[in-house]
Formats: sequence, structure tokens, C-alpha cells
Amino acid sequence: MNVPYSVHEINPFCIQAMAEHRALRGSFASIKGLLNKAAESDADKRAALAEVAGKISQFQAALTDHFRREERGGCLEEAVIRSPALAPEADRLLAEHVELSDMVEQLRADAAGSISPAEAWHKLAADYAQFEVYWLRHEAAEDSLLQKAFNEDFGNS
Ligand SMILES: [Fe+2]
Ligand SMILES: [Fe+2]
Repeated sequence: MNVPYSVHEINPFCIQAMAEHRALRGSFASIKGLLNKAAESDADKRAALAEVAGKISQFQAALTDHFRREERGGCLEEAVIRSPALAPEADRLLAEHVELSDMVEQLRADAAGSISPAEAWHKLAADYAQFEVYWLRHEAAEDSLLQKAFNEDFGNS
């Protein structure tokens, strides 16, 4: 059933969460841009790795803040209050934060590691691809849960 008022007026937590998802996706895409650019270059990967390590650290800090906000309540909690049947899915998504945090820490370690640049590059590319699939699916599932709970198309893509 549609609520007779706009979710935008009543749920700033959700607006913030969706905005964070967009910003995080943008930040993550910029890391991918760096990886692709460096992969096509014959130059030493050492400088590219340092640049990627800095970007990953920024992304990691923003993602950690985002996860903590979701875990402290707010958007997902309000979604479950509105639609209690979504509680198992919300719990499942929150539980994924642990593994996702470990994976992004691994990315940071890959880029900042002491193994040779060629080896580090290879490992980073593989770990990045694995994290990308898992993390994008996680955030898309949250967007979907919020849309179900609030019966609202947030226009997120
Ligand atoms: Fe999450
Ligand atoms: Fe999220």
C-alpha cells in the first residue's frame, strides 16, 4: 500500500543511505578506472599501486562509516519496522558487513603490500574483481529492500 506522504519528508536516513550508495559506487568506479589505465600501460606498476592504495584507503574509510551507520539503526531498521517480513533479509545483509570489511582490507593490503609490484598487481586485480561482485550485489540488495519497504522508487542506478 502506498503511504499518503513522501518518504523524502519522513525518512532522511534512507535519503542519506541511498546517497552514500551512489557516492561509494562512484569512488569504487574511480579505483577501477585507475586499475584499467595502469593495466594498459607498460610503465612500472609501483607508482600506480601507490595511487591505488591511497584511493582504496579513502574508499575503505567511507565504506566503514557507511556500514557503521547502517548497523546503528536508521534506514534498514525503519524498513523492518514498516515491513517485518524483511527482517531476515536485513539481518543477512548486515551480517555480510564482516566479510566485506575483511575483503576491502585485503584490497588495501594488496596495494600497500611488500611483494613485487607485478605480483601485487595480479593479486589486487583478482581480489578487486571478487569484491566488486559481492559488494555491488550487497548494496543493490539493500536498495531493493528499501524500495520494497517504502514502496518507493528511489531512482537509483
Ligand atoms: Fe550494508
Ligand atoms: Fe549500504
